[in-house]
Amino acid sequence: MSERFYVTTPIYYVNDIPHIGHAYTTIAADILARRNRMAGREVFFLTGTDEHGQKVEKAAQEKGRSAKEHADLLVENFKGIWQRLNISHDAFIRTTDEGHIKTVQGLLQRLWDLGEIEKREYAGWYCTPDERFWTEKDLVNGNCPDCGRPVDRIQEENYFFLMSGYQSRLIAHIEQNPSYILPDTRRNEVLGFLKHNTLGDLCISRPKQRLAWGIPLPFNGDFVTYVWFDALVNYFSATRYLAPHAAHAGEGDFWWPADHHLVGKDILTTHAVYWSTMLMALNLPLPKNIFAHGWWTVGGKKMSKSLGNVVDPHAIADVYGVDAFRYFLFREMPFGLDGDFSEDALIRRINTDLANDLGNLLSRFITMAEKYFQGAIRRPASATFTVDEHEIESLAEQGMARPEFKPDFVLDFIHANIEARAERKWSELRFSVILEGIWSLISEANNHIARTEPWKLARTDPEALKTVMYDLWNALRLIAVSLYPFMPGTAVKMWKQLGLRVMEEEIRQSWTEKPAEDLRCYSRIFYWDWQPAYDIQVLKGEQLFPRIEKSREKQYIKSRSATADEIEETKESLAGEDKKVETSDAAAEREEEAGANLITINDFARVELKIGKVLSAERVKKSDKLIRLQVDTGEQRQIVAGIGKTYAPEDLVGRKIVVVANLRPARLMGVESNGMLLAATGSDGVPVILMPEKDVEPGSRIK
Ligand code: MSP
Repeated sequence: MSERFYVTTPIYYVNDIPHIGHAYTTIAADILARRNRMAGREVFFLTGTDEHGQKVEKAAQEKGRSAKEHADLLVENFKGIWQRLNISHDAFIRTTDEGHIKTVQGLLQRLWDLGEIEKREYAGWYCTPDERFWTEKDLVNGNCPDCGRPVDRIQEENYFFLMSGYQSRLIAHIEQNPSYILPDTRRNEVLGFLKHNTLGDLCISRPKQRLAWGIPLPFNGDFVTYVWFDALVNYFSATRYLAPHAAHAGEGDFWWPADHHLVGKDILTTHAVYWSTMLMALNLPLPKNIFAHGWWTVGGKKMSKSLGNVVDPHAIADVYGVDAFRYFLFREMPFGLDGDFSEDALIRRINTDLANDLGNLLSRFITMAEKYFQGAIRRPASATFTVDEHEIESLAEQGMARPEFKPDFVLDFIHANIEARAERKWSELRFSVILEGIWSLISEANNHIARTEPWKLARTDPEALKTVMYDLWNALRLIAVSLYPFMPGTAVKMWKQLGLRVMEEEIRQSWTEKPAEDLRCYSRIFYWDWQPAYDIQVLKGEQLFPRIEKSREKQYIKSRSATADEIEETKESLAGEDKKVETSDAAAEREEEAGANLITINDFARVELKIGKVLSAERVKKSDKLIRLQVDTGEQRQIVAGIGKTYAPEDLVGRKIVVVANLRPARLMGVESNGMLLAATGSDGVPVILMPEKDVEPGSRIK
């Protein structure tokens, strides 16, 4: 385990308005940075903005500003939202920084000197909004395959990075380093792509007369650097002029290579292929990991201005609080998969997990502590703590079963805590699983209250009451520690209410006390039975998470529609370099991880699916969508189906279809329907009826 930790976010296009997608990557990096600082490592957490290129140049011209002036104004949108979301980045890089420009030029010169860059005559199709070239066969109906807009035929000289020479080395690197690209499904996609395609060379320049707003090539000032080449270098250049110790950075850099580059799945190829091969050519070490996370949709749809469904993180934080938002993003969907954002789901999480489970646990404990002990919590003299947590932890890490012991809250809790914070889950960035683990601690503590009934002990057994309350205090303290990376504000509030002082400070101090020879580097503060040097006086504070009443929803919807108008629908074209292919692996993984949505075989067996034969079909009056079908499913029944836009009634007669036979009858435009036919929705939204592949008797059961 390294004693230093370097994590990055993508650098965001400066003229984007920050939305939930940007917030997602950055909060993930923040969680990792906080957790690693807490674990005693020296951390460098980098984020920033991507400021060159045609979009910024054009937008600035329209506003009558220079491109730099324009970027200087817009960058504040990002700086502001990171402050609001409690992001603890150590540096904010801008690709217009002098230090970055120098590094990019230095690396370009090096590649040029090494013969890794060549000047060539180039002819191709150019998509101006996407700022990228396409070959003839890439085009779709003569248009850009990415954004569908017309392309221009361009013939010009340009500089090429000889990327093609690195194809087999890159394949070998990915194969030999299983955690280089995560999750595995994405790794397999990249490998599949590399093995089944021939890697070309990468055009890394743009003639100045076509695009002036970029970093001039050091060996030919008539050209500027291609934005992606410029942008990717940020991860390295920050270590040369922004990071702590940067001044001393020689070739054997203190920070380089990064531990994690967090990126969205749409920009995985640029990182996994362009950036990796650039580093290989430069003889620089590759990052330890590139993690590609999934995308948030809203109401099942991609966020876009025209749909008015762009989620503004400021508005959510204003209405629901920063920590509830942070929690939701990482609990609701496993990191790596796609998910859907909805206010209803957010409110559900707040009311159940946060208000009910966590908030109530703390407030019940504090109320009892104040009532029974005037807030003073002391380690009872009778508490003899003989368990060696280090030992249990090493056993757990080696996969050994826990020793047998009587049901015992403290031991159960310690085990659950060790499991919840296991390093393995962190190195795989399984945030939702880690949170589930923390919630199992919360329910252990809630169950302990229910089981021991402290209000009865207060009358019958004051000594036992002291032990129960001390144990609960310890449990809550450890829950606060575990929650800190995800919900720092909440953890700090809990810490205070638990009668402790300055959480971050106390954690830092606990590290300075670590004995040099303790290689495991664990501070006592992460273990049961740690106590501060002062007396503990718990103190009721504000409620952590008040329940959300329905009426509050409105506030968010209002503020969101105000800001959505300002957001440009440019995302697709800006990120343009990469395209996503969802594999069946990804779908399987989603199913496995999203356990909550799975049904049992018994649930499925309740649905009666049968083969039906269409006997007759006619349109329902005044509807262009609905068709009334008479269907033989062993018995004759009437079904109304919304397929009229794609199927003509006469085409359906005689066809075999799949029918849900035990649906409650419903009326559609006044016509009774007894069952439903199954149809898939194609990518164009058009229904496609399912039909058996071979002839089967009407009424046959489908299982
Ligand atoms: N400037 C480039 C990155 C260069 S890194 C060397 C860029 N910027 S971006 O502003 O368009 O987006 C950055 C990140 O936001 C990407 O990781 C992208 O996946 C993420 N998201 C944008 N929309 C998203 C969702 N709807 N959901 C989740 N993340 C998404 O690309």
